[in-house]
Amino acid sequence: MSTVHLSSTTAPVNIAVVKYWGKRDPTLNLPTNSSISVTLSQDDLRAWTTASCSQDFPEDRMWLNGEERSTTDDKRLLACLKELRSLRTRVEQEDGTLPKLSGMGLHIASENNFPTAAGLASSAAGFAALVRAVADLYKLPSSRTELSRIARQGSGSACRSLFGGYVAWEMGTREDGSDSQAVQVAEADHWPTMKACILVASAQKKDVSSTSGMQSTTKTSLLFRERIERVVPDRMARMTEAIRARDFSTFAELTMRDSNGFHAVCLDTYPPIFYMNDVSRAVVRLVEHINGQAGETVCAYTYDAGPNTVIYYLRENEARVLSFVKGAVSATTRGADGLSEQTAASVPDVLAQ
Ligand code: ADP
Ligand code: DP6
Ligand code: CO
Repeated sequence: MSTVHLSSTTAPVNIAVVKYWGKRDPTLNLPTNSSISVTLSQDDLRAWTTASCSQDFPEDRMWLNGEERSTTDDKRLLACLKELRSLRTRVEQEDGTLPKLSGMGLHIASENNFPTAAGLASSAAGFAALVRAVADLYKLPSSRTELSRIARQGSGSACRSLFGGYVAWEMGTREDGSDSQAVQVAEADHWPTMKACILVASAQKKDVSSTSGMQSTTKTSLLFRERIERVVPDRMARMTEAIRARDFSTFAELTMRDSNGFHAVCLDTYPPIFYMNDVSRAVVRLVEHINGQAGETVCAYTYDAGPNTVIYYLRENEARVLSFVKGAVSATTRGADGLSEQTAASVPDVLAQ
């Protein structure tokens, strides 16, 4: 039996505060707007991926959460693997003594420790981990920026998970996508007291994937043009400034407005797409209640393409935010500093009362 070459890595999820929604080029995964996110601690929500290759592997195979998935019709996965292989081929051409890994089949196994395809950025953590695992296996000299351009082709949001802290995905202008990549706006320790609390309203796979949801939005929504042309460019600039200035109330207002605007565009899609549900809407009201009681904005909700809430808040406000949240829902807190805490009851149970 031949040698099996192997490499494992993890990648964290990132939750956008100015959201990516829409592709100007679906093949290269080029977005219609720039976006910005916070990368959460990988001690908490993460994808864990092992990539291996061997002369004995005749074909590429992939397992996600223990189940094998076909690789042959997965164009985005194939695009990532093609780019990584051609980079390895270049490395092998430069150093003729290296094993010819580029000609071997790849076996990739990945597991998420949180709900997959439920609006908690599994595709972001998943493709970031996949690209990093194969790049490590191939010992590629590529920078994180270069890897972000490859991960982007797997899932757009994945490009941001290659970096920690506050990360922008610059949409770029070039047709070949060579300037559509992630850029770190600030390290996590620039604002070390930032925390996130995740409320799982449903761990079920969503009905409409992010890919197909944004495809129908770009085709049918009239509000969408307003969002990408007028709303997001200004919001990106203001969000970047709020992060640099550690201005939580501006960060929070922009985050909540962007989540609301994104879900409004989903509703304006024809036929409409509903990612938020009654539980999500109850949590919006809860956050408004907490801020009202505090007399200032101490927490912000945001929803990706799913019903589950991420609440951002600062550590100094943890007690007052979580005392309300724990009273109402099941909470798992996540922080850039790796602190975490968990409680028991479930969102639908409590909010249904
Ligand atoms: P989410 O809101 O969780 O990101 P998406 O609809 O964007 O949901 O993407 C879900 C898809 O991402 C999955 O069906 C799968 O194809 C891919 N994915 C999720 N996790 C991983 C992973 N760990 N490795 C590779 N691909 C993954
Ligand atoms: C609402 O990156 O999952 O989470 O590129 O088609 O894989 P694909 O879509 P994906 O979309 C993420 C949408 C979002 C907002 C965001 O993360 O910016
Ligand atoms: Co996704």
